[in-house]
Amino acid sequence: MEIKKVCVLGAGLMGSGIAQICAQAGYDVTMRDIEQRFIDGGMNSIKKNLGRDMEKGRITKEQMDAVLARIKPTLDIKEAATGADVVVEVVIELMAIKKKVYEELEGIVPPHCLFFTNTSGLSITEMASVTKRPDKMIGTHFFNPVPVMKLLEIICCYQTSPETLEAAKAWGQKIGKDVIVVKEAPAFVVNRILCLMLNEAFYVLDEGLASAEDIDKGMVLGCNHPIGPLALADLVGLDTLLHIMEDLYRELGDKYRPALMLRKLVRAGRYGRKTGKGVYDYTKK
Ligand code: CAA
Repeated sequence: MEIKKVCVLGAGLMGSGIAQICAQAGYDVTMRDIEQRFIDGGMNSIKKNLGRDMEKGRITKEQMDAVLARIKPTLDIKEAATGADVVVEVVIELMAIKKKVYEELEGIVPPHCLFFTNTSGLSITEMASVTKRPDKMIGTHFFNPVPVMKLLEIICCYQTSPETLEAAKAWGQKIGKDVIVVKEAPAFVVNRILCLMLNEAFYVLDEGLASAEDIDKGMVLGCNHPIGPLALADLVGLDTLLHIMEDLYRELGDKYRPALMLRKLVRAGRYGRKTGKGVYDYTKK
């Protein structure tokens, strides 16, 4: 099956990044969100990223305009999903809302349309069970920042067909990602390992073993990580990290118990870079 039109549901950090790289790969893209301010934020971020590429001489002004012209932002799910060959769903990480979106999509998209969900850990098998095309459902887990990070983690659910897997792999390669294929399990592969480390950094901070800056410096200089675990938690979003840890704790037990310090920061509304403050304060820079 040839993929021409990609519908991205969600214009946040991840959704806009996915829309951008799909348009850069030549697909016609619709990007839908539920409020104009989210659409505006997503389009601004895409323009900023492409503008930086242009300044650095990686693309021309004409190429930038052509990419932007391929992205149609909209508030209307019907307009976004009609005629789509693939829907990439990047809505909030709540199972009930994701299921509602899939039920709504069934009445809009053509029968051949594939459903790709960018969940960081929810059960894709459960989402697929509310669709009339569970064989066409698969997980496509991107990493933040989407235009920069090379990996696409593809997750087969119980019902995914071999044809859907092949289509998702080919699509991932076309949008410039290196793909790994994993089986469905809580938080899949990368987040199961990564989030455990980030959570541990909050325990270490809470125990007063070192300052936040020194914990991060230790992991950057001692392990060659590009940024430290606390700075990375701020990038991912402390609320998102806590959600993932709570799921892992529920499913896999005590090893994954969320750190109290992480909970406290989330309760204080310090979600990381997106709110200006997390472990660190970004409002002063
Ligand atoms: N969008 C697009 N491009 C971006 C960007 C963004 N938000 N942030 C940085 N970049 C680009 C910059 O333009 C720059 O590109 P050039 O060198 O080509 O000009 C490049 O990335 C490096 O950026 P900077 O020099 O500004 O800063 P840096 O060297 O510190 O790199 C970083 C920034 C790429 C984010 C780097 O810190 C890094 O790799 N961090 C780790 C990121 C990571 O681990 N992500 C996975 C998170 S887990 C996840 O996402 C899964 C989940 O479900 C929770």
